[in-house]
Amino acid sequence: MKQVNIAILGCGTVGTGVARLLLNNGDILRDRIGCELQLKYVADIDTVTDRGLSLAPGVMIPDAAAAIADPEVDIVVETIGGEGIAKTMILDAIDKGKHVVTANKALLAKHGNPIIAAATENGVDLAYEASVGGCMPIIKTVRESLVGNRISAMTGILNGTCNYILSKITDEGVDFEAALAEAQAKGYAEADPTLDVEGQDAAHKLALLSALAFGMRINFDDIYIEGISRITPMDIEFAAQFGYRIKLLAITKFDGGSVEARVHPTMIPFDNMLSNVNGTLNAISVSADAVGDILLYGHGAGMMPTASAVVSDIADIARNLAAGGAGRVPVMGFQPDKIRPITVLPMD
Ligand code: HSE
Repeated sequence: MKQVNIAILGCGTVGTGVARLLLNNGDILRDRIGCELQLKYVADIDTVTDRGLSLAPGVMIPDAAAAIADPEVDIVVETIGGEGIAKTMILDAIDKGKHVVTANKALLAKHGNPIIAAATENGVDLAYEASVGGCMPIIKTVRESLVGNRISAMTGILNGTCNYILSKITDEGVDFEAALAEAQAKGYAEADPTLDVEGQDAAHKLALLSALAFGMRINFDDIYIEGISRITPMDIEFAAQFGYRIKLLAITKFDGGSVEARVHPTMIPFDNMLSNVNGTLNAISVSADAVGDILLYGHGAGMMPTASAVVSDIADIARNLAAGGAGRVPVMGFQPDKIRPITVLPMD
């Protein structure tokens, strides 16, 4: 049976979850994929903290570059996050002919072009299901299930931290700072939580989905972004009196010419399904010409839901490798060299 060697770079919340899933569910993965997924390295500067993983000797190492340089490594899983070292590591891995799986939405939304171009040039797969919506298979749905559709709109709750905070304030009267601290303690928030509460994280995800759905990249800086930091308990209470819950929505629409993309708090009527998506749950509805509407729903943040999406990408690439190369499952999905104009609508 073919063996596929994996190196995880960064052993924080998501990296730990990926290692745990590969170790705990290696048997079903082997049966379903038809190859052995071997966790060869987990690289992190902190090799001391006990993460509850039963790693074989020599798997946990401090040097990510050494893991990338090992010619036996087939797939590099980047779970470092951020736009600095993660970018360098991904480009280095691609340059060395490794297939890459990443959950790094900020990096792809802002620097996706050169990364996808490098992957294409080097004939390697770059997969990013976990970058949007945690365990919700929205990337695969748009790229594969809806491949024969013209997609006209997507509307979703795409940030688990904001949804958790808003749910805690609305349902339990917890104050904003305490709810954010809980989201951080549970590993839902970004290392810099202002990316969550000011809406950028949802916008990163929206940029990726728009590019995938509409076939071309959009300029991240043109997305209208407003977070939840100015929402007060009084706003939430008044909204409830009128029959609404406040949610941070990410919305993208395509009219065949330009894209409208925005992230902002929105009042949702109680009888709308999105109004009942609470805690770290995410949901997204996709409108497309053949199917009408599809709604996906699932945990959008947290260790194991996000790890599940990363492992699904590892499985896709392993299947490609077992079949003899990159690209059988078309994991990248959009063209980096084309750009769609974006319409910025007045928000009043
Ligand atoms: N900070 C992100 C969120 C993590 O809260 O949704 C998952 O992308």
